[in-house]
Amino acid sequence: MKKVVLAYSGGLDTSCAIKWLKDKGYEVICFIADLGQGENFEPVEARALAAGATKVYIKDLQDEFVNDFIVPALKAGAVYESKYFLATALGRPLIAKYLVEVAHKEKAQVISHGCTGKGNDQVRLEVTSGILDPSLEIVAPLRIWEFKSREEEIEYAKKHSIPIDVTKKKVYSIDRNLWGISIEAGILEDLETEPPEDAYLITQSPEKSPEKPKYVEVSFVKGVPVKLDGKSLDLKNMIDKLNVIGGEYGVGRSDLVENRLVGIKSREIYEAPAATILGMAHKELEALTLDRETAHFKDSVSLKYAELIYYGLWYSPLREALECFVESTQERVTGTIKLKLFKGVCSPAGRKSPNSLYKKELSTYGKDDTFDQKLAEGFIKLWALPYKR
Ligand code: ARG
Repeated sequence: MKKVVLAYSGGLDTSCAIKWLKDKGYEVICFIADLGQGENFEPVEARALAAGATKVYIKDLQDEFVNDFIVPALKAGAVYESKYFLATALGRPLIAKYLVEVAHKEKAQVISHGCTGKGNDQVRLEVTSGILDPSLEIVAPLRIWEFKSREEEIEYAKKHSIPIDVTKKKVYSIDRNLWGISIEAGILEDLETEPPEDAYLITQSPEKSPEKPKYVEVSFVKGVPVKLDGKSLDLKNMIDKLNVIGGEYGVGRSDLVENRLVGIKSREIYEAPAATILGMAHKELEALTLDRETAHFKDSVSLKYAELIYYGLWYSPLREALECFVESTQERVTGTIKLKLFKGVCSPAGRKSPNSLYKKELSTYGKDDTFDQKLAEGFIKLWALPYKR
């Protein structure tokens, strides 16, 4: 019997996929990755077994997610189309890495997932698996099975006693991890409509957020956040904490019509309070510590880096080469940034760094000015020289 390792979420699609794969003659092994989605995995595991899986792997990948994916993306300043901190996109290569690992352990020849044929995630999982082990086959049930609607899947699940939670009326499609939440479908497909409050899970509406601002201080060493409000904190816990604090102040929402890999535009909303706060703090610190040319060049690298993550090309030579560039820029990125959180807005409120390139004696308009203004005249002449007609 051919073995398949299925990326299992516990939802209707992947639960039906277990039974569907079994009927196609596969032995189904489920893999569940804990990326900080805050779920209780016990009922999920029970559901997988009840649906017909022979084995269920549950792996806590949060630390690896933080250290090997979130930190490099934060250092790189990777944000897709200016608004998306890439939480979902960053999680996929890690999940795929472990699907491949479990496949090797179980001597399975096939990998499977519950992604549809219209999304980015199928690409990310399959490209990664193909890079890590090209000999593995892929079966994507949702691209080929006969069900045309959610109702038909529910029918199928009922007929085959696949335990599903149909009481939960599914209004949106949600993907959640430590770095953020992606929410789409339902009313969000209507571009003329503001996202309803019930679409958001962890952020309060700015209108309802506290009337007084909150200040947080993040300290970095070489581009990595190490302290919150002066206290050393493990980054995973810092992210958890900032998601709560930022969420309370309505920080980290974004609403994006994005360009998908498969050629369509789609509307998705995101909640990423910690990513927003840490991303801004990191950018502010770079503004203080990087020289102009490095900073400007790095902006173009950020753009490409975000595209590569979005495109499923985490394990690509270019992403790895860019990581080396980014890493060398982070040597100087040490210091502390104070931020103000208020009514959905996160803004800088204080900056300091031992590597600061800001020299007050040069920029001041006060009496301590040491800038030699006479030099400017010659500089301007030479600067304009190539353009003299
Ligand atoms: N659009 C985002 C991406 O491609 C998120 C995809 C998953 N979204 C979801 N709501 N299930 O990375």
